[in-house]
Amino acid sequence: MANPTCQLLAVTVVLGAVQLITSYSFKNCIEDPRAKGKNFTCINRGESNISAIVDDLPLSAFSIVIAINPISHIPNRAFENFLNLEHLKLDHNHISTIDEFAFRNLMKLRSLNLSCNYILELKPSLFEDLRNLTFLSLTNNRLKMLQVNIFSTVPQLDTLLLRQNFLTNFSQIAQSVSPLRYLKTLDLCFNNLTSLNNSNNLLNQSLNILYLCRNNLISLGCEHSFFRYVHLLDLSNNFRLPTKAFQGVDLSHLRYIRLSSTAVKIVDFLNTTNINVDCVDFSATGLKNESLIKDLCRALKAKVQRMTKLRLCHNGITNLTTKALYDCPKITHAVDLSHNRLKNTKCLSFLTKHNNIQNFSAEHNHFISLPSCRRKNRTDMVTFNNLENLSYRYNRILSVSCYAFSNTPNLKWLQLNINTIAFLNRKALRGLKKLETLRLDNNLLTDLFNDTFEDQINLEILNLRNNQISVIFNNTFLNLRKLTTLDLGGNKISHFEPLGLEGLHSLSKLYLDGNNLKQIDSSLYHAFQNKLRALDLQRNQIRFLNETDISPFVNLSKLSDLKLDGQRPYGLTLLPRNFFRGLRSLRSLYLTDNHISHIAPDAFDDLAGLHFLTLINCCVGVAQLQPGVFKNLKNLTKLIAENMGIQNFSKEVFGNLTQLHTLQLNRNVMQSIDVDALENLPNLHYLDIRNTPLTCTCQNTKLQNWTLHNPKVQVVYLYSQPCQNERKHKFYNFDTRICYIDLGEYLFITTAVIIALFTVSPILYVKLYWKLKYSYYVFRAWFSEQWRRLREEEEKCKYDAFISYNSSDEQWVMEQLLPNLEGSGSSFKLCLHHRDFELGRDIVDNIVSAVYSSRKTVCVVSQNFLRSEWCSLEIQLASYRLFDEHRDVLLLVFLEPVSERKISTYHRMRKVMLKKTYLQWPGSDCADPTQAQDLFWNQLRRAIRTGGQLETDEDERCINLVTEPSDTETLDETYYLLP
Ligand SMILES: *[C@@H]1O[C@H](CO)[C@@H](O)[C@H](O)[C@H]1NC(C)=O
Ligand SMILES: *[C@@H]1O[C@H](CO)[C@@H](O)[C@H](O)[C@H]1NC(C)=O
Ligand SMILES: *[C@@H]1O[C@H](CO)[C@@H](O)[C@H](O)[C@H]1NC(C)=O
Repeated sequence: MANPTCQLLAVTVVLGAVQLITSYSFKNCIEDPRAKGKNFTCINRGESNISAIVDDLPLSAFSIVIAINPISHIPNRAFENFLNLEHLKLDHNHISTIDEFAFRNLMKLRSLNLSCNYILELKPSLFEDLRNLTFLSLTNNRLKMLQVNIFSTVPQLDTLLLRQNFLTNFSQIAQSVSPLRYLKTLDLCFNNLTSLNNSNNLLNQSLNILYLCRNNLISLGCEHSFFRYVHLLDLSNNFRLPTKAFQGVDLSHLRYIRLSSTAVKIVDFLNTTNINVDCVDFSATGLKNESLIKDLCRALKAKVQRMTKLRLCHNGITNLTTKALYDCPKITHAVDLSHNRLKNTKCLSFLTKHNNIQNFSAEHNHFISLPSCRRKNRTDMVTFNNLENLSYRYNRILSVSCYAFSNTPNLKWLQLNINTIAFLNRKALRGLKKLETLRLDNNLLTDLFNDTFEDQINLEILNLRNNQISVIFNNTFLNLRKLTTLDLGGNKISHFEPLGLEGLHSLSKLYLDGNNLKQIDSSLYHAFQNKLRALDLQRNQIRFLNETDISPFVNLSKLSDLKLDGQRPYGLTLLPRNFFRGLRSLRSLYLTDNHISHIAPDAFDDLAGLHFLTLINCCVGVAQLQPGVFKNLKNLTKLIAENMGIQNFSKEVFGNLTQLHTLQLNRNVMQSIDVDALENLPNLHYLDIRNTPLTCTCQNTKLQNWTLHNPKVQVVYLYSQPCQNERKHKFYNFDTRICYIDLGEYLFITTAVIIALFTVSPILYVKLYWKLKYSYYVFRAWFSEQWRRLREEEEKCKYDAFISYNSSDEQWVMEQLLPNLEGSGSSFKLCLHHRDFELGRDIVDNIVSAVYSSRKTVCVVSQNFLRSEWCSLEIQLASYRLFDEHRDVLLLVFLEPVSERKISTYHRMRKVMLKKTYLQWPGSDCADPTQAQDLFWNQLRRAIRTGGQLETDEDERCINLVTEPSDTETLDETYYLLP
């Protein structure tokens, strides 16, 4: 019994332990594998109960993002165990109520984002423990008011965003934020404030940035010194805010003020306030025609001689003549005319007086061409020698004439992107020798000439993305010796002329994605002198149909990033075996969406430095990854093998990825995953197996166990993983007991036996008390010293016979037996229990002793004798001696005829009777009782004396001496048949 019991215990212990170990996976969150135990995102889980989201996160959590969930309520102490939490984002949920102690214990919290919810109010002690909070966003909620002391417990707060609520009472807000001695930024845009009435002048010195845009401000109603500490003031889109609101308000400390879309008359404003004109943003202040602008300039000039910036965006300006800004103070730094309706740059002639500016921007205007600005053509042409940054983005420029930038020869940054430039004169960029960044992307360029970029000897970044270029002619980039980034993506390039990339000696990033390249011309890349780091060849038309021995990248030994995804329209089809040869420094390789039907087992052999490999949807149908295909990727840390049709995740294929940290196997078709293979990845921390048809069958019991009890590997949303066979069941808890049925059966039987024993033993004990007691004595007698003593004593027995009888037969014993055996010359020494048993001794002991200290045991058998259990014991003992010691000790004397049936119930007696003869007491019904009785006594005396068999006498029938054959089993039957 011990063995199964032990197993039972062991199983119980194991089950107990199972409860203790927790999985590394989270029900509703994903741990950022780069910030283990720290950063968690729990987005779009359809979970409304916040504790169901956070209850399995480790208490070490540093940042938790819970967004896009139907959470409406945050209960008390929802995060109380996260003592290390510093960042909590709860945006885009449906939170309307937050219990007062919801954020209890978050002593370390530094940022709390509650934006985009339906919060109606903040309970007074809500932020009580957040002593270290510096950032709080309540943007886009339904707050109507703030409690006066709501922020008194967050003294460190420096940014408070209350944008997009229904706040109306500024003085109340001012009072609430007055304890915030470090508050720097306060955003109150998109509320319903009508004034800044604030009787106690409660804003702190720290408050430098105040956003009040899009409220309902009609007056400011604030004290003279209200803006004393404010640097940035946004009052835009308070459509009714009049100029007179500023009367008596000190604006001298402002550094930037936005007044767009207000009722402020800007010239009046300048005249009536002490504002520093340099800091006023004149955007959207209604300065739509030249005369208004001239008025402005005069007003400005009245105040200052110089200013650094002039911002005139969103004013609907259609035309600016040379005189327009003539009256303005000298602008030294920047002019911004974006979002107007200018049609012509006029070579910046309207800036003639301000030719020292460094930045000019006219984005989002209506320019249709950039004319030539060569001094030769126009004598009044001004040169902007200091202009470095020029932007004409978002215009409608179709053509750029030659020498278009001759008047701005020192440009470093030129943005012509997002136009419709189809004609870029080959001399358009002539003279721009200092240009570092040139943006020509998103235009309609078709041709680049070998002199287009002739002068750009310092160019570092050239962006030509999304044009219509189809051929790169020889020496197009010949002079771009300093170019590091060339973006030719999104063109129609089908080929390069042999020297098309010549001269790009510093190039480190080359984007050729989204073109029509059909092959990778290795001859081109020798131009890069081994400096190229990133090469993007996504979405071209590269395709290999048969195994060719090409190694196009063999010269790119420094390349670290290679993208080959999505070759149109058929994909790469085949990955030639030496395709990646030479890419010794490659760290990232992208091969997604490529219909590859065969990946040679040595395809990746040269990529020993690879860290990142993505193969999402790279292959056709069911991927047959060859054993050892990743064998050299010893540095791979992240593998995205999503939707590859992987059917079998095996050690042979994935087993060598010893540094692998993140593995995405989602959307594959394996029904099970070999746990051995997973265990072969010692550094694995993140495993995504979502949307795989894992079956909940015995095949996966090991996997289930592994996913639940591996302390290291996060299995993304493990608890949501459904069973393939029954999708309403979950993989993590499918019933594996059926898989242990044999053990179960074993345990069942064991248990049943044990229970049965415990149940039956007491019953047996009660029922068979005497039998057991007897057996005990037999045993004791057998093995004890006494046993041997008794046997020795037997030789010189104390008694000749022990007479066993029932008390009802005592009369016969005393009157017949005793006189005939003890008296009248026979002088046998008889043992009679009522006379010779030791007083005080256990009766059973007495019987045993009597049987063993007598040479014979004479049983006086009567109906009553048979009924007496004492007798039973005596017969048993004596017959034991008869059968097992082969000593004839037992003599049966039948006092009355006892039916055979009755005797047969005494099994042992029947056996005795079969083996031995027995004496029948001749009763009075005999013809001559006296003679028969004499014979009886003689027979008995002889039997006691000799111990031999009772002899039968054929002639003395009336003695009724019955002799039975000793060996017939058939007689056994006869006994039963006798009536
Ligand atoms: C962890 O979260 C914090 C706060 O959200 C963030 O600043 C930090 O960059 C994150 N760490 C990593 C490794 O992403
Ligand atoms: C609060 O922040 C300061 C410095 O940023 C830090 O020293 C202190 O330990 C933080 N307090 C708590 C309770 O974490
Ligand atoms: C803003 O306040 C005015 C009165 O002060 C009220 O009529 C208007 O409905 C409020 N607007 C919103 C969006 O609450």
